[in-house]
Amino acid sequence: MCGIVGHLGNQNAAGILLEGLKRLEYRGYDSSGLAVLQDGSLAVTKRVGRVKELIGAIKQAPVESTIGICHTRWATHGEVTEENAHPHLSSDGKITLVHNGVIENYNTLRSFLTSKGFSFSSETDTEVLCNLIAYHYAKEAETAEGSRFATSVRKALLHVEGTYGLAALCANCPDEMVGARHGSPLIQGVGREEILLASDVAALVSRTPDVVYMNDGELVHIVGNQFSLTTLDSEDIKPVINTVDWDVSEGELGDFEHYMLKEIFEQPTALENAMRGRFSQDGSTAKFGGLNITPQDLRQIDRILLCACGTAWHACLTMEFLIEKYARIPVEVEYASEFRYRNAPLDKNTLVMVVSQSGETIDTLAALRESKRKGYTTLAITNGVGSTIARESDGGIYQHAGPEVGVASTKAFTSQLMIGSILALYLGRLRDMSFNDGVEMVEGLKQIPSLVEKIVQLSEDIHRIAKKYVHKQDFLFLGRQSMFPIALEGALKLKEISYIHAEGYPAAEMKHGPIALISEDCPSLFIATEPDTLSKVVSNMQEVKARKGQLIVVRSESCTMPEGLADDEMVIPDCHPVAAPILASIPVQLLSYHIAVERGCDVDKPRNLAKSETVE
Ligand code: G6P
Repeated sequence: MCGIVGHLGNQNAAGILLEGLKRLEYRGYDSSGLAVLQDGSLAVTKRVGRVKELIGAIKQAPVESTIGICHTRWATHGEVTEENAHPHLSSDGKITLVHNGVIENYNTLRSFLTSKGFSFSSETDTEVLCNLIAYHYAKEAETAEGSRFATSVRKALLHVEGTYGLAALCANCPDEMVGARHGSPLIQGVGREEILLASDVAALVSRTPDVVYMNDGELVHIVGNQFSLTTLDSEDIKPVINTVDWDVSEGELGDFEHYMLKEIFEQPTALENAMRGRFSQDGSTAKFGGLNITPQDLRQIDRILLCACGTAWHACLTMEFLIEKYARIPVEVEYASEFRYRNAPLDKNTLVMVVSQSGETIDTLAALRESKRKGYTTLAITNGVGSTIARESDGGIYQHAGPEVGVASTKAFTSQLMIGSILALYLGRLRDMSFNDGVEMVEGLKQIPSLVEKIVQLSEDIHRIAKKYVHKQDFLFLGRQSMFPIALEGALKLKEISYIHAEGYPAAEMKHGPIALISEDCPSLFIATEPDTLSKVVSNMQEVKARKGQLIVVRSESCTMPEGLADDEMVIPDCHPVAAPILASIPVQLLSYHIAVERGCDVDKPRNLAKSETVE
C-alpha cells in the first residue's frame, strides 16, 4: 500500500532508488515517481503504470544526484494520474514529499494553505502536507539553516490528523533528508556511506543489513551520513540498530514465470522452516522460543481471540478448528477491521492472537493495540521479522516463510496453517492430549513438506484442468469442517487474480442459497478429504450434477467418488487430519494460478490490490 524509498549518500541516487522501488512494487503499482535534488532545484519525474515505466523515463532523461526519494502508489485520494502520483512538489518549489498513509484533515489544511497563497495541482492529501511543510519552512526563516527544514516538517506534522510514513527533501538543503512515521511503516537503512529510508526492509537489504525500525511519533533528520532520531516534540531517542538476516536472492524470480508460482513451489521449504526446531525432544509436543508466556499461564487461558484480515483471516478460521479440536480451548475469529471498532466483551483469561503475513496491516495492528490497551496478553503470528506487529505484541511466533512477493498469498498462508497446527499441538499437550496422540500428530506434521512436494508436481495436470474453466464467470468453492476455510481461501484466490466471481461456502449450506447459482456456466469445486463427512459431501455433489453443474473435486486418495460423478479430480495423498488443510490448499492455489494465467491476467500484481494494507 504505497512504497517509499529515500537515499542520501555519495553515489548516484537514481539507480539505488529504483532498485529499491522495484522490490516494493507489491505495495502498490498504479503509478510511481522519483525526485532528486539537482543543481539546487528539485527535479521530479513521474509516470502512470508500473515502476518499469518510471525506469524507462529515467533512462531517457537521466538525473544526476546523490540524494533522492521515490514512491510507488496505491491510490487513496484521487485517480491514477501523473499529477496525483508522488513525489509531490510544494507550489513554491521548495519541498518534495513521498507519503504512505492518509491525512484525514487535508480539506481543512488545504483551505488554510490556499488562503496563504499555496496552490495545488493534484487531488491528493499528500500535496497538502507537502505545502504545509513549505508553509512552515517559509515561516521558520529565522531558524538556523541546519535545523530549519526538520523543524518545519515537525511543525507541519503537529497539525496533521491521520497516518503517515514519509520522506521529504528541501531544495535549499542538498545534504538533508527528513523522514517520519505515524501509523505507516518506515525503516532506516544505515550503510557505511549512505543512509536510506524505506517502507520495508526488502528495499534496503541489497544496500545494508543494518536497519532501524522507526516507531510511531518518531522523526529522523539525516544530514550527510549522520542521523538523529527524535519524537515530534524534539525529545532525543537512542536508535536501536538491528542486523537483518535476509538473503537477497530469496526475493528473486529465478526460472519461474511468476512469483506466485515460485512461491507455490517454495511451500515444502517454507513449511519445513515453519517447523524447524519447534518439536520437543521426546517427539510428543512443541516448543516456541518467543511466546513470552509460561506454560502455567497458558493453562489458565480459557478463550482465544484470533484477529486478522484477508487470507490471514482464513488461516485463523482453520486455526479455530484445529485449536478447538486438539486443545479444546474455545476460539473466536474476528476481522481485525471490525474488532478495532467494536467493544467486544473479553474476559481476563482471553488470549488475543493476531495473524499477519506482513506484520504491518493497519487494521490488524489497531486490533493488537486495542487489545493491549485493554490489558490482554497478545501474541502475533507473522512472517514480518522486525515488523511493527512483531515488535508491539507481547510475544509471538515467526513463520520463517521467506519473502512473499506475489500479491496473492500462498506460502505465507500454508505456513500460518502450519504454525497454527503446531500451536494446537502445544496447547493440547498442556491440557488433555495424550503422549501417544501428540507423537502421532508430530509424525503427521513432519510428513507435510514431502507430501506437499508431491502435490506441487501435479501443476501441469492441474493446468490441463484449468484450461476447461477459463471462460467461466462464476465459481463455487465448497468444503466442510476444516475444509470450509480452504474453500473460502480458494474462492478468494480465484477472484483476486482472475477476476472471476467466486464464493466459498460450507458444502451443506449450498442448499440455502448458492444452489440458485448452479448452472452449466457455474462450476463447483468441492474439497472432500474427510471420510466422516464424505457421504454428505457426495450428496451435495449429486445435487450440483442434477442441475447440470460441472464438478471439480479435490479429494484424498481414500475418499473415492462414485464413478463418473466428478468432471475433474485433483487427488492429494492420505494424511493425518491435521495436515489436510495444508495439503488441500495446494491444488486450489494451482488451479487459480493456471486459470488466471490462461485468462492473461497479471497474477503477481492483480488490479486494485496491494499486498500490505497500511491504510484503513
Ligand atoms: C491484503 C493482501 C492479502 C492479505 C491481507 C492481510 O489484502 O492482498 O493477501 O492476506 O492484506 O495481510 P497480512 O500481511 O496482514 O497478512
